Amino acid sequence: MGLAPVWRLRRGRAAQAGTVAPPPAAATASREQQILRLDWDSLQSRVAGCTDCKLRASCSQTVFGVGDARAEWMLVGEAPGAEEDRLGEPFVGQAGKLLDNMLAAIGLRRGDNVYIGNVLKCRPPGNRNPEPAEVAACSPYLLRQIELIQPKLILAMGRFAAQTLLSTEATIASLRGALHGYAGVPLIVTYHPAYLLRNLPDKAKAWADLRFAVRTMEGLR
Ligand code: URA
Repeated sequence: MGLAPVWRLRRGRAAQAGTVAPPPAAATASREQQILRLDWDSLQSRVAGCTDCKLRASCSQTVFGVGDARAEWMLVGEAPGAEEDRLGEPFVGQAGKLLDNMLAAIGLRRGDNVYIGNVLKCRPPGNRNPEPAEVAACSPYLLRQIELIQPKLILAMGRFAAQTLLSTEATIASLRGALHGYAGVPLIVTYHPAYLLRNLPDKAKAWADLRFAVRTMEGLR
């Protein structure tokens, strides 16, 4: 009872001064702002129902990511391929087998303190390169995943993930071996497992990257 007159008075003054009460935040927030407010479950649902770029029309399903949503390690690849599109999980084809072996070599296992995701949640037709509009549409989802997981370290796998997350056109060779950052999270660049399947000699470099990542993680704990 006692507060009501004060509230009315304030409203009255605002109206007199010509100010208009702002509409509710949700009504004015951009698409990206809305995504960056979602909790984990809502984010998953939003991705599952996303038709904001043309990729959803040609893929079988969205591939959100897999693993421990409180993981210290976050691995980011490019986009689902044929097997991932079929099964709804990232890195389940040949490249995924190599990735699992790479993780095992540093004492990690898919789903155990590791989260694996991609820049794009939908498979580009014929595994073509992602287009800028597709990356722009999908990037807020990855950013929100990272914000919610709060990994200690991101491993960007391959040119596409590295260049997208670091907003650069620099080569993998020039980005390897240094500590970068994305969204406030330390980030290390390494080769994509699919590339390593075609370029076996570079496995030694990837192994060096993994050891660098382990040392970095030890320093971050
Ligand atoms: N390549 C990627 O970049 N991501 C996958 O999920 C599978 C293959």
